[in-house]
Amino acid sequence: MRIKILRQQTPFSKPYWEAFAYNGTKDISVAGLLDHLNYHDDIMNDAGEPTTRIGWECSCLQGVCGGCAMVINDMPALACETFLRDLEGTEIELRPLRKFPVIHDLIVDRSSIQENLKRTDIYIGEYQPKKGEDSRRQYDVAKCLKCGLCLEVCPNYTCGETFFGAVFANDCYLVAARNRTKAKDIHRAYAAHFGNACSKSFACMDVCPADIPTIASMSRLNR
Ligand code: FES
Repeated sequence: MRIKILRQQTPFSKPYWEAFAYNGTKDISVAGLLDHLNYHDDIMNDAGEPTTRIGWECSCLQGVCGGCAMVINDMPALACETFLRDLEGTEIELRPLRKFPVIHDLIVDRSSIQENLKRTDIYIGEYQPKKGEDSRRQYDVAKCLKCGLCLEVCPNYTCGETFFGAVFANDCYLVAARNRTKAKDIHRAYAAHFGNACSKSFACMDVCPADIPTIASMSRLNR
């Protein structure tokens, strides 16, 4: 198999494609594949030239931390949850998420996701669960990995602009449900940074690794 990776040594250097050969099992995740390619001291590309270790991020290796989000064969996905046996063809193409600044190879800077929450003062604070609260739905939304896959496919999201995407809409729902004292401010921020600009493609829900029902968060907030 040929593995093509879009590499970039520093945030300011020029991206370039580099290919690697892989002849092992297909019962391995893309995360396992990257580990395998990086394992040796003398790393070679498929032209037999020495090269540097491939930069990528991971923590949990079980679809929980969101660190390994990248674009695999043109589809945004988690590397640890995507297996070679499920990918078509004899070539695999890996590139970093396109909606965030690249730090190194497949590692991107997703700090804007947290910065947007800080900018709009969206936080839960002291939380006392109330009887009859919709805790099941809140739990579903709280599973968000902040991986950025929903932003990658969103036709309206551009990093650094005022539309903050599905990840923000879900946080607004969760915080509004748990912090009633901030509800008015949250609804204002939701309208300004999501509600008034979402074109409802709902591609975000197709790629969400936690299956978060963003449409349900939207309908709750709109109501
Ligand atoms: S390594 Fe944590 S989600 Fe893939």
